[in-house]
Amino acid sequence: MNTQPDRIIIFDTTLRDGEQSPGATLNVDEKLVIARQLARLRVDVIEAGFAFASPGDFEAVQKIAQQVGVEGGPIICSLARAIRQDIQAAAEALKPAVNARIHTFISTSDIHLEFQLRKSRAEVLSIAEEMVDYAKTFMEDVEFSPMDAVRSDPEFLYQVLERTIAAGATTVNIPDTVGYTTPSEFGALIQGIRANVPNIHQAVISVHGHNDLGLAVANFLEAVKSGARQLECTINGIGERAGNAALEELVMALHVRRQYFNPYVGRAAESEEPLTAIDTRQLYKTSRLVSNLTGILVQPNKAIVGANAFAHESGIHQDGVLKNKLTYEIMDAQSIGLTDNQIVLGKHSGRNAFRTRLKELGFDLGDQELNRAFLRFKELGDKKKEISDWDLEAIVNDEIQQVPELFRLELVQVSCGDRARPTATVTLRTPEGQELTDAAIGTGPVDAVYRAINRVVEIPNELIEFSVQSVTAGIDAIGEVTIRLRHGDRVFSGHAANTDIIVASAEAYIHALNRLYTTLHRPTTISAKPEQSAIVAESYSIAGEA
Ligand code: KIV
Ligand code: ZN
Repeated sequence: MNTQPDRIIIFDTTLRDGEQSPGATLNVDEKLVIARQLARLRVDVIEAGFAFASPGDFEAVQKIAQQVGVEGGPIICSLARAIRQDIQAAAEALKPAVNARIHTFISTSDIHLEFQLRKSRAEVLSIAEEMVDYAKTFMEDVEFSPMDAVRSDPEFLYQVLERTIAAGATTVNIPDTVGYTTPSEFGALIQGIRANVPNIHQAVISVHGHNDLGLAVANFLEAVKSGARQLECTINGIGERAGNAALEELVMALHVRRQYFNPYVGRAAESEEPLTAIDTRQLYKTSRLVSNLTGILVQPNKAIVGANAFAHESGIHQDGVLKNKLTYEIMDAQSIGLTDNQIVLGKHSGRNAFRTRLKELGFDLGDQELNRAFLRFKELGDKKKEISDWDLEAIVNDEIQQVPELFRLELVQVSCGDRARPTATVTLRTPEGQELTDAAIGTGPVDAVYRAINRVVEIPNELIEFSVQSVTAGIDAIGEVTIRLRHGDRVFSGHAANTDIIVASAEAYIHALNRLYTTLHRPTTISAKPEQSAIVAESYSIAGEA
């Protein structure tokens, strides 16, 4: 039996590995919003979380399984260490999905075995086999990852893969956990696996990789040429440390250069059939959504989705593009969903026109969200004559953020200028329903606002990132503010959009503080993030008993 597909499977791990980026913590509703968009993007698999890690992760996997894992939708997957309790939690959370997958893993490199797991190779081999076998008792679709595969002894890796495939793994994933490999080495590793694992044709070969040396996408493309058929990636390349391979870069490389890659998947070079199932016109919107909800900005020169990715600055380039786009463009901006900044609505546009345009843009809002967004649209219409698609997108992305409104901004007022000391007054409604007002002087108006807010909220924190971006050109443009603050060793992000950047700054700060407040007032749970090494160490004593 040959299970190798003749196209590339896109496995999105934005909600699991991507969420492991510092400060990217998303709540359950935000994860659902992203999962729905990933389904519109038509990824094949959504790794929705790590069900055992915390009640919040469990709930997110379960809700995504229920609401996105429907007939015709993507496979919903949960990560699980090679431990019975993890696998049980994953299986339980995934129950509502029509198509579900358990992704279980254990390290195979000697450095991990010696210092982290404190297990022998023989022990790891039997745990891996036994836990794949156990996962198979819950579902047919089981993926196995030998963590730190790239730094593992290839002979041991082959053995682990052979045994886990024999135990029923339908996908074997080869992670470059520390982002260490180079394209030719990674390609050779995949070829070595194909040549030395006798039953490899019974499983799909997948790759997973981090971007510590900036090589993740290049490594994956080489892996495709060597026989990998599933790519594990994240939107905007977010993830642990330097991030994961970026989905949009992989998909567009396979799309733009399909004639080059076609023969490697057994197709005629000239075939126009897409190599992935992705609807590329959803890429830009997905990127913006993930950036807004995680608070992780996209650098302007980022390939495919950066603000400058389709901008031509030099006169020679502009001249060429005006004569024929192909002179300096290898892909069309519209292919990633970058519409021209169309001016579609104005102050007098009604609710129906608003709803219809949002639908055309791919936003399907519930009644409550629609009402809130419509109010914002009307407010914006009073300040701005012409409202573009990008403005609409900014309003909607702002409204669908699901940060609990614990502290709410009731008023913000600043006085500043070249002869004045920047002074701010704020009134906030507290989670207990009190209205509190305070004022402060700062080095600038935003600093003054943040100091005044801090006097009311009284939660120590350090602002570590502040950025304002304008959504469109023009004096009446909406400004989007993204901030990140630190409390202890945790980072929290906030995002807000408003034509008044002082108001947007205040709201973004309050969003982040509300996230922080929720964490402080939540009962303690196992965290899959900072304490990951602790749970890994703790867990393998359980695995030993499994
Ligand atoms: O980077 C890694 O090794 C992982 C595994 C859990 C697949 O994220
Ligand atoms: Zn990873």
